[in-house]
Amino acid sequence: MDIYQALVKDHRKVQDLLNVLVNLDESDSDVRKELTDKIRDELIPHSRAEEAVFYNSIRAINTAQDLVWHGYEEHMQAEALLRTLQAAEKIDVGFKKTAEKLREALNHHIQEEEERIIPVARQLFTEDEARVMCEAFEEMKPEVREEGIVQTTLDMIANMMPPRLAAPLRTFTLKS
Ligand SMILES: [Fe+2]
Ligand SMILES: [Fe+2]
Repeated sequence: MDIYQALVKDHRKVQDLLNVLVNLDESDSDVRKELTDKIRDELIPHSRAEEAVFYNSIRAINTAQDLVWHGYEEHMQAEALLRTLQAAEKIDVGFKKTAEKLREALNHHIQEEEERIIPVARQLFTEDEARVMCEAFEEMKPEVREEGIVQTTLDMIANMMPPRLAAPLRTFTLKS
């Protein structure tokens, strides 16, 4: 498998979960919580590993920077909506509306990645590189899945910074 296939596979998984989520019976609070957690466990590890492995490899070659920054921006927006959804799930207010907003935001983001960022990346990387990136991507996801909200936020900031500036931030970890 290469990185492009791995990204698309994850995208379909999270889109399927979001489709179930927006069509849920509002009274089904147990399933609602379970599904919200599942979406979190797919979305956050995907986004962090995608930034670290995929976006930053593109940035390293120094092209398509705007596209990548736009991707970061959309990750932030999606995660803000996910946090709102988690709160809405707990207090039982505005859940469906937030779920619909999250689905809309992610469908848009996924479409941009697949139609704009992946084609650019295909021009930049060899097949071997695309396979190595896939391995690194899959390896990183379970690590992120174990992290809490503060650590994943620090990770995102570190991903966005130039490596030399990100190093101190990466050592400022809650894991140790
Ligand atoms: Fe993605
Ligand atoms: Fe993304």
